[in-house]
Amino acid sequence: MKIRNHFSLKTLNSFNIQAITPQILFPSNIAELTEIATKHLSSFYVLGEGSNTLFCEDEAPTIVKPCFKGVEVNEDDSNFYVKVACAENWHEFVEFCVKNEMYGIENLALIPGSVGAAPVQNIGAYGVEVGDFIDRVSWFDFNKQELIEYSQAQCKFSYRESIFKQRLKGAGVITHVHFKFPKNWQPVISYQGLNSLNSPVSAQDIMLKVIELRQSKLPDPKVLANAGSFFKNPLVTNARFGLLKSQYPEIPFYPQNNGEVKLAAGWLIEQAGLKGYRQGDVGVHEKQALVLINYGESTGQDIVKLAQHIQKEVKMQFGIELVTEVRFIGHQGEVDNVSAGNS
Ligand code: EPU
Repeated sequence: MKIRNHFSLKTLNSFNIQAITPQILFPSNIAELTEIATKHLSSFYVLGEGSNTLFCEDEAPTIVKPCFKGVEVNEDDSNFYVKVACAENWHEFVEFCVKNEMYGIENLALIPGSVGAAPVQNIGAYGVEVGDFIDRVSWFDFNKQELIEYSQAQCKFSYRESIFKQRLKGAGVITHVHFKFPKNWQPVISYQGLNSLNSPVSAQDIMLKVIELRQSKLPDPKVLANAGSFFKNPLVTNARFGLLKSQYPEIPFYPQNNGEVKLAAGWLIEQAGLKGYRQGDVGVHEKQALVLINYGESTGQDIVKLAQHIQKEVKMQFGIELVTEVRFIGHQGEVDNVSAGNS
């Protein structure tokens, strides 16, 4: 197995943070994962393409970066079944599906990251969440030292959440994701920006429109270092929403099935006067306030400080606590964003 010691993670995270790991391991098969499991690592972090990770200290924990590759397609009369290895690139997989007439995830085009990371935070955009198309996930459990399959229901998908961020956090590695794409495809074009597409609409049309929309407001991490939405969109009760709506009639809102209302964190940050705000080499993106940028050689702590400033201002103006979507990684593993500021 490829192993590197005292390794800089600067090119392996989309924030371009210079953090040093004592050791990074690149397993590419189950035997190598078993070898890692027998080391009984006390603290480690599983890294995909590093597009939702903030290394908030100069030192990172041991890193496991799985390198499993490959795609296998099967079908019956009703569905396509696609088994994809964790280190495949997400956007390339979306393109592969559209090209091969397997539809459903075209709304998720251009999301940075790997296939293995997609179920962890149940990536979602433009009216679709990946969990809707996942049949099951193969998981190598470090304690049991075996491969376990989690069905869609067992994955406990919800908005930017899954069992992999909760009970299974730090306990193993996703090796493969098994997708199921129904052959009777239904386009999802209800989201603002897609509803202008003329019918009959193809999956290719949707994919191209999503790419255009994302490129118009989200910065390319290769040009401006960022990790996409930094915070989750907050959920509030209907009663709380009623009060906000009376004070801010133009507030964007998305009613949920359970009676709660989802608000747009980007709008809240913009209203708090922070769109385009800069603190040295870190800042809030000028076109989408939900995205924080490392403009130069910032440290993870610089970004943590900016995030905490945003949380304070939004709390002061709206009484709403913004929760981070990006995962904060200190030298001993994942930390919550409050402790991250105290280091
Ligand atoms: N808005 C503002 N100011 C801003 C940003 C947004 O007023 O600076 C308003 C917009 O005008 C709109 C509303 O907020 O009325 C929602 O904005 P947008 O459609 O851009 O989506 P979002 O809620 O900010 C979410 C996801 C994105 C995803 C888009 C499209 C989260 C945390 N983010 O953003 O996901 O691409 O919807 O579906 O749910 C990501 O997770 O990294 C990500 C980019």
